[in-house]
Amino acid sequence: MLDEVLAWLDVRPGGTYVDATVGAGGHAEAILERIAPAGRLIGIDRDAEALAVAERRLARYGAAVTLRHANYSAIRAVVAEAGLEAVNGIVMDLGASSLQLEEPLRGFSFARPGPLDMRMDRTQPHCAADLVNSLPEDQLRGLLWAYGEERWARRIARAIVQRRPFGTTDELASVVGAAIPRRAWPRGIHPATRTFQALRIATNRELEALEQALPEAVGALRGGGRLCVITFHSLEDRIVKHTYLRLSRDCTCPPGSPQCVCNGRRLLRVLTRRPLTPSLSEIAANPRSRSAKMRVAERATDQTERASEAGQSSADTTLPSVVPDVLPPAPGFRRRSSSSSQARQRS
Ligand SMILES: C[S@@+](CC[C@H](N)C(=O)[O-])C[C@H]1O[C@@H](n2cnc3c(N)ncnc32)[C@H](O)[C@@H]1O
Repeated sequence: MLDEVLAWLDVRPGGTYVDATVGAGGHAEAILERIAPAGRLIGIDRDAEALAVAERRLARYGAAVTLRHANYSAIRAVVAEAGLEAVNGIVMDLGASSLQLEEPLRGFSFARPGPLDMRMDRTQPHCAADLVNSLPEDQLRGLLWAYGEERWARRIARAIVQRRPFGTTDELASVVGAAIPRRAWPRGIHPATRTFQALRIATNRELEALEQALPEAVGALRGGGRLCVITFHSLEDRIVKHTYLRLSRDCTCPPGSPQCVCNGRRLLRVLTRRPLTPSLSEIAANPRSRSAKMRVAERATDQTERASEAGQSSADTTLPSVVPDVLPPAPGFRRRSSSSSQARQRS
């Protein structure tokens, strides 16, 4: 949805923009083409390997680009550290990148054998194998159901617990496939697709990061600045939709409050009543884009009062986490070193 991103972000020469999921630098490059030489782009990614690729790709833009290894939940601090008070636009293109999905050593793919890793940020302590090998069966079931919408979650969780520990993607994929009755295998996708998606979301705490990031991103926009978020999962889209709605209300007091105590003024104007979706030709060229949804909002211009509150996350968008904060070390499982024999997967 590159053209849509550029149009909706209203990218202008000399402007300042953040690509909060810079990945291989595709969106960033297209933005830089339009803003250089006077403009500035900050690119954020939690994946140091993606940043190295983006760095090579964007090198010709010199000082117009600043790349940071960070979680996008820290977007406001990253913008401030880069010496900017606020920016004209922010794009977030969620999920995993092709770089991650297609490299077996990253452990995201059931299609190619590799270590069961799935960490976007390889400096984080816990990988997918830790979840698979240590979560109690009911938590595994909940995770597969909530994040993978996997109707066979109960059978899969039971099979995993009976067969663990797992060290590699292919071992797990074959046990998941065997746990689902053959006649119920989903058409056109590998039977382990939903399980792998759920594990990826949980391993990287993707929904929690998004919930924290959106108000931070709004806080980093100047008046009239725009936020474009592309999601690939219904739970992500729900978080974006609800956060936009909440921040576009004048009053954020709980429904039924006798009187307004927040003195709120809206921070956002939602520009897309319904999410934008890719064209049929884009889906044909890139089938992975089929579930993409983009929502765009604009920072209101007439108030600064609630700007400092923008960083607070809201109760009404919070989804319960199904993953414990501290995972115990998995019995009988040794994580491989994050260098040579490193694992990955692609869904
Ligand atoms: C779909 S890719 C983005 C591709 C990019 N738009 C391009 O044009 O190449 C998503 C990227 O977001 C990164 N990412 C996901 N969650 C993140 C987070 N919480 N903080 C920072 N980066 C994140 C991933 O590591 C991945 O590189």
